Formats: sequence, C-alpha cells, structure tokens
Amino acid sequence: MASSKYHSLNFQCSDCGKQYPKWQGQCFACNEWDTIVENISDNKTFLDIGGSEINESSLIDLSAVSSSEADKDIYKIEWPELNRALGGDFISGAVVLIAGMPGVGKSTLLMQLSSKLSMHGEVVYLCGEESIKQVTKKFERLCISNTNIKLYDGMNLNEIAELLSDLKPKSILVDSIQSVYDPDTQGAPGSINQIINSTKKLILLCKKLNILCLMSGHVTKTGDVAGPRVLEHMVDVVLQLDYLNNRQERILTPIKNRFGPTFDIGLFSMNSNGFVDITDPSSLMIDEYNPSGVGSILVPIPNGQRLFFYEIQSLVAKTYSNYPKKIAEGIDNNRLLILTSVLNKIAKISVENHDVIVNVMKGQSIKNVTSDFGICLSILSSLYNSGFEKNTMAVGEIALTGEIRNPPNLERILKEGVRLGIKKAFIGRVNDTSTISTNNIELVTFNNINSVSATLFK
Ligand code: TYD
Ligand code: MG
Repeated sequence: MASSKYHSLNFQCSDCGKQYPKWQGQCFACNEWDTIVENISDNKTFLDIGGSEINESSLIDLSAVSSSEADKDIYKIEWPELNRALGGDFISGAVVLIAGMPGVGKSTLLMQLSSKLSMHGEVVYLCGEESIKQVTKKFERLCISNTNIKLYDGMNLNEIAELLSDLKPKSILVDSIQSVYDPDTQGAPGSINQIINSTKKLILLCKKLNILCLMSGHVTKTGDVAGPRVLEHMVDVVLQLDYLNNRQERILTPIKNRFGPTFDIGLFSMNSNGFVDITDPSSLMIDEYNPSGVGSILVPIPNGQRLFFYEIQSLVAKTYSNYPKKIAEGIDNNRLLILTSVLNKIAKISVENHDVIVNVMKGQSIKNVTSDFGICLSILSSLYNSGFEKNTMAVGEIALTGEIRNPPNLERILKEGVRLGIKKAFIGRVNDTSTISTNNIELVTFNNINSVSATLFK
C-alpha cells in the first residue's frame, strides 16, 4: 500500500521540491505559481548499468575509520582565494555546484580547478557545453596540459556511470549539469526533471565511488540556479560566481557548505589566461578620491571577512515641483526615506522642498546599515554645499532616535582605513576613544545625528 502511495507522487515543485499526487497551479509549500512539473524516472535502469558497481550500504564502525585514512580523502588545493570561499579544501565524494550567469567564468574556473585537482589523481572533465576542440583550446589558453585530465563529451548519464565505474577517477567536473541527459527521464536536457534526476543519480554515484564531483550550473536573471532551487538542497556545497564592479573582477560566494564555514568570499580578476587572485580588495571600489567633492564621502562595508570602501555621492537641490523626488541608486529607497525622516524629525533639518539623489559610485549596491551615517553626511554636505577633507570616511548605523551606533568591528575598519590612507573618520559614540588603538587617523565622534549640522556645517 505504502509503495503505491509514494508511486503516485508524480509531480514535484521545481522550486522547493515538494511532491504532489497531481498537478496544481500553486505550490502550497513555497507559494510559487507554475512550478509543479511531472516527475517521471526509473532508477532501476541506472543501478543496473554503472550503478551496478555500487554495493549495498553497510554499517561501518566509526572507530574503525582512522584519522589518517580520513586525511587521505581531503584534496588540498593551493589557491588562497578559492580556499577562502570553500572554507578549506575539497573532500572526496563531495558534490559541489558552481553557479553563475552565462559568461561569468564557470568553465574557466572548472578548468583551472581540474589542473589543481589532477595532482591528487585522475580527473574527468565532461564537456557538455562546448566541443572537445573548444575546450582543448581553452585549456591551451590557460596553459594547462596535464595527462591526468581526461576530456569526455558524452552527456548520457548511463554512459557517464559506466565510464566512472570503469575508470574510477578521483574527481569529475561536469560542465554543465544542465547539459547532462538521463535517458530514463522524460524531457530534454536542461528541463527540470532532467536536472533533478541527473543530479540525484550523479550524487548517488559519486558518493558510492568516493569521487569528488564539481558541476557548473547556470543561474537565471533573478539569481536562482536555473530550474530548481531544489538542486541547491541536494548538493553538498554551492559556490556562486558573480561579476564584481561589472568589470573583470569576480566574486565567489559560498551559499551553502556542509563541510566548512560560509563566512568568507573569494575575489578574482579574470585575465587573459584565467583567474588570478585579488589579494588587496579594499580599494577596488574607489578611484583617486576627489578631495573637493561636495556631497561625497567614503563608507566601509564588510563582505565576508573582507572590507570594501565605497564612495557615496549625494545631490540635494531645491525643487519647485509639488512632489520632490528621493532617488536612491545603489542603496535601498526605503532606507533613504527613513534617513531623511530622521534628519527631519530628530536633527530638524528639512529636505522636504528638495530633490534628494543618493548614488553609490561605480554602479555598486550596498545593503548594510553601517553606511547610514555616511549617507546622512553626504546629504548634509550637498545641502550645505560644503565638502569634506580629502580621504574622509563615515561609519555607523543611525537609529530612529538619531543615535549613531558603531559596528562591532570598528577597530578593524579603522585599521584598514589607515592602511588605505584615510585621514579622518566620523564615527558613532565611543565611551573612551583612547581605547581605540589606531594611530594616524583623526576620529570625530557623534552621539546623535541632531548635533552634526551645528558642529560641522556652521
Ligand atoms: P567561461 O568560463 O566560458 O564562462 P561560463 O562557463 O560561465 O559561461 O568564460 C567566458 C568569458 O571569460 C569569456 O568572455 C572569455 C573570458 N575569458 C577570459 O577573459 N580569460 C580566459 O583565460 C578565459 C578562458 C576566458
Ligand atoms: Mg561554460
């Protein structure tokens, strides 16, 4: 009885994975519309082919697994920025998804990784997106010629299973999961059914054969991994590769990691022969700082364990329209409304008859309340037409009471600021500034936004 019940769960939400006995318009679990799709697969065929190598699961005594044996399963990679994002090294049997928009550099990253991983044994590189010729050219461009790397252009999952069981490589790199095809599943390669079932089977295979699997996956415009978000739940590690600055820099962010921490990021520059580490990212977002820039100030924003400095600019201009505009580019519009309301009510500075435009330079977006004080100071600077001295930054969140609060890592921020040549920092209340052991920077503290204009713009 039970098996027939589960057999009938033939429909699945492509977003969250919830299963249903019949089709319906909306998923009750995640409330998304039009995400329920039919899920047809037959696992028997798969297990009969490459999966036949897979033994029955057996009980293993924990004490029987010695730590030296466990150490053998860690594939050390000498790549500092990648190690940061990964929270360490690769582990055999793990399944890692590298997600990113088309063209961001997923294949390049996989190719460079295949070279590093080949130090630990044979690597199979599945070329589903590009022909063997194109892939070979890219490997040449990246100056990788390693006999431990085998290229394979078949994307039929049963054939891949056979190949892996025969060859037993240490790692397999799948470029991309959207191009893998499971003949026992309905739908074209890249369809949701195909992606889910192919991933399930690849995971099963790699876990049993103890093969490290790295796969690339496209993300949609909204930033989700194309097709199912459920894919993110299935794999062990998800690393997302994005453009930084819309230029040649890339950021690798861990979204999930079953084996390590997810609090740091990797930063790379895409050069003519692949990814190169960016070791000093703080000044990436700022150009030669304009000393006389009215309405302009620097704000430090942490990202992972890194600190970025962004330039915020404001333009406050009297308007004769009945509907003054508040335009926020790169910061949340609601945050701008909150901050102008605090300026109005608490600091008694009205920008009611003004258009207020706030922009984060270089087309960047920031979502961190540590920038509040900087945003307010840049608005006041433009309103009073008075710029700050060269290399000035502001740090602090502004409460609805107008109180300015420092972030917990203030001292680290100041130290990094000094390193970049920041001469002056506006910060929130500090009980005793002598406790801050940062030299060569002038600290100006404010308890509340209400005293700022009288002190700075008189
Ligand atoms: P690719 O790795 O093919 O991206 P994805 O697999 O995510 O679609 O990289 C595509 C871009 O990277 C392309 O615009 C060319 C550029 N690139 C370099 O700048 N340097 C290189 O060494 C390589 C291999 C690619
Ligand atoms: Mg690619």
